[in-house]
Amino acid sequence: MKVAIAAETRSGERRVALVPNLVSRLTGAGFEVAVEPGAGAAAHHSDDDYRAAGADVTPDAVSGAAALLGVQPPTEAQVDTLADHAVVISFLPPAQELGLVTTLRDANVSAFSMELVPRTSRAQSMDALSSQALVAGYRCAIVAAERLPRFFPLLMTAAGTVAPAKVLVLGAGVAGLQAIATARRLGAVVRAYDVRAAAAEEVRSVGAEFVELELPPLEGAGGYAREMTEDRAAKQLELLAPHVAEADALITTAAVPGRRAPLLVTREMVAAMRPGSVVVDLAAEQGGNVEGAVPGEEIAVGGVRVWGGANVPSQMPAQASQLYSTNVVNLLLHMASEGKLALDLDDDIVSGCCVTHDGKVHHAPTRELLS
Ligand code: NAI
Repeated sequence: MKVAIAAETRSGERRVALVPNLVSRLTGAGFEVAVEPGAGAAAHHSDDDYRAAGADVTPDAVSGAAALLGVQPPTEAQVDTLADHAVVISFLPPAQELGLVTTLRDANVSAFSMELVPRTSRAQSMDALSSQALVAGYRCAIVAAERLPRFFPLLMTAAGTVAPAKVLVLGAGVAGLQAIATARRLGAVVRAYDVRAAAAEEVRSVGAEFVELELPPLEGAGGYAREMTEDRAAKQLELLAPHVAEADALITTAAVPGRRAPLLVTREMVAAMRPGSVVVDLAAEQGGNVEGAVPGEEIAVGGVRVWGGANVPSQMPAQASQLYSTNVVNLLLHMASEGKLALDLDDDIVSGCCVTHDGKVHHAPTRELLS
């Protein structure tokens, strides 16, 4: 059975869904691997690397494939050329891709969304949201350190003592915790806030001080945050303002699944930061935690530089691809037996991330959206 890796076509995507050193996990399990020429180039993997690893590098990689692995969702043209009842595994936010979902359904493709892999212990090795958030969180701290025109660490020198930079992290999920740990390793004094009750302990465990606000925790289903009410949002802005003003670098990573990112910092709050301060908004593509942040751009608010993230994991494409490939291979092999795909829709992982199967939309919320 042929497993295809297509070259990513979406602008700014530098990752690849299978790195050469994981080809042998698929060939060892009885699959053939076909890779489009140049598929790994932006992640620093050459066609020769794939050939040496045992893959066939061919422009016809996708044609007739039983499985297609991607980072971004497939194109309609790719779906057209797959084998009947093929499997597609990629990031696929179904609510934002309803047209593609109907194409996949009508083409009898079994499509699996990496965003929908359950966040359970059993599925941890397939959790691409976590692996990519880890990369993004690290990168945010590095971006802040690089843009901040001052030291991160405390320095005691013959010319005097230099105080460490003060970093504030808002949103302490996977990305936020990695941003905290990285900023701490660089020597900054880090404080952080999150609405989840468990976050305080998690923040302290990576060496930061938790910012206590006079507000109750805000949790929804599955341990995730809920959307804020207008009152809560206004109160949180007011309470966070002095902490933001005090920070040299502000890193925001707050998100609510399926919703616009919560607005945590207004333009006025940014303008009240000291000149030379830096803001890094990882949530810029989801609407932004920081008012005015533009994905993929840096803007100035007074003397403060505001950097908006756009596909941040792609800024470290080799390692982001290595981690993502491991997640995807683990999911594919979870659904395979003796070189063949054996989809068990009673399995909670397989069912949880299945968007379309057997000519139907399997994911109930997407089915509702389409009806
Ligand atoms: P996410 O990307 O959806 O959100 C990032 C963070 O923003 C979250 O910590 C959230 O609480 C926070 N946030 C939302 N609204 C906020 C607001 N108004 N103000 C401040 N912060 C706000 O979340 P992520 O990073 O994907 O994971 C979050 C949860 O999932 C955590 O509880 C994490 O421990 C859990 N998790 C569990 C896993 C497992 O059991 N296998 C794997 C990965 C995550």
